[in-house]
Amino acid sequence: MSDLVPDKAGLEAILDYYVEAGVDLALDEEPHDRFVETALPPPAPIVRREEIAPREPADAPPPRALPQAAVAPEEAAVQARELARHARSLEELETILAAFEGCSLKSSAKNLVFADGTPQSRVMLVGEAPGADEDRIGKPFVGRSGQLLDRMLAAIGLDRAEVYIANVVPWRPPGNRTPTPQEVAICKPFIARQIELAKPDFLICLGGPAAQNLLNLKEGILRTRGRWFSYRTDEGREIRALATLHPAYLLRQPLQKRLAWRDFLALRRALDGETGTGE
Ligand code: URA
Repeated sequence: MSDLVPDKAGLEAILDYYVEAGVDLALDEEPHDRFVETALPPPAPIVRREEIAPREPADAPPPRALPQAAVAPEEAAVQARELARHARSLEELETILAAFEGCSLKSSAKNLVFADGTPQSRVMLVGEAPGADEDRIGKPFVGRSGQLLDRMLAAIGLDRAEVYIANVVPWRPPGNRTPTPQEVAICKPFIARQIELAKPDFLICLGGPAAQNLLNLKEGILRTRGRWFSYRTDEGREIRALATLHPAYLLRQPLQKRLAWRDFLALRRALDGETGTGE
């Protein structure tokens, strides 16, 4: 073998190096400009705006997301809004989301991570985006931070099966990077509709990104956690919303668990019907 081509041991050493560095996904050898590649012919919109009636009758089939190579992010966000607002049940929303091709995260993810738990629960918890374990299994919060979340819930007498859990972004960003503002904007109509359809009494935003994106907060999570906010659905329903620390952050900063404990106690009190606004 030539000096330039690594042998088996050399290739294994390169792979080990990548794994150590956190590279766990091979996307492609070359960068692609998908917008240029798909410039001609223009991609067909998933749903044309003028074709959308205000609300479909109950027995009409859900709108279909047509397969697309790539859609400009602004157009994808418009399509996401139209598709999401037509979903009449959580099952339908999941089906629509599974067929949606407007978010590029879908192409690198193994699974759609839609939700776990009981959709009729009074409590809905929303995180930022799935990680590697969630992507593999197709359920939110099943990895290390999910196990901590389970213990936090158990500490206030709740089982994960009796709450409803989802994420702002339902596909894993490659390498667990933070979802881009565009990816969040495209996925936001779906989580907004998911909250609207689940109709929880209490919405718990896990971590700064979920709190900022769902509650339109500008301040960081250490300032907003423990405070009750009002989340207003598109249909005008008010839901009490609480921001708290993300379990992944608590795994890195265990001393901060005392703050999360206060937040979860505030949730417990609210569930028990006690009035008050947290701290
Ligand atoms: N972190 C999140 O925000 N969501 C998950 O589902 C897992 C980890």
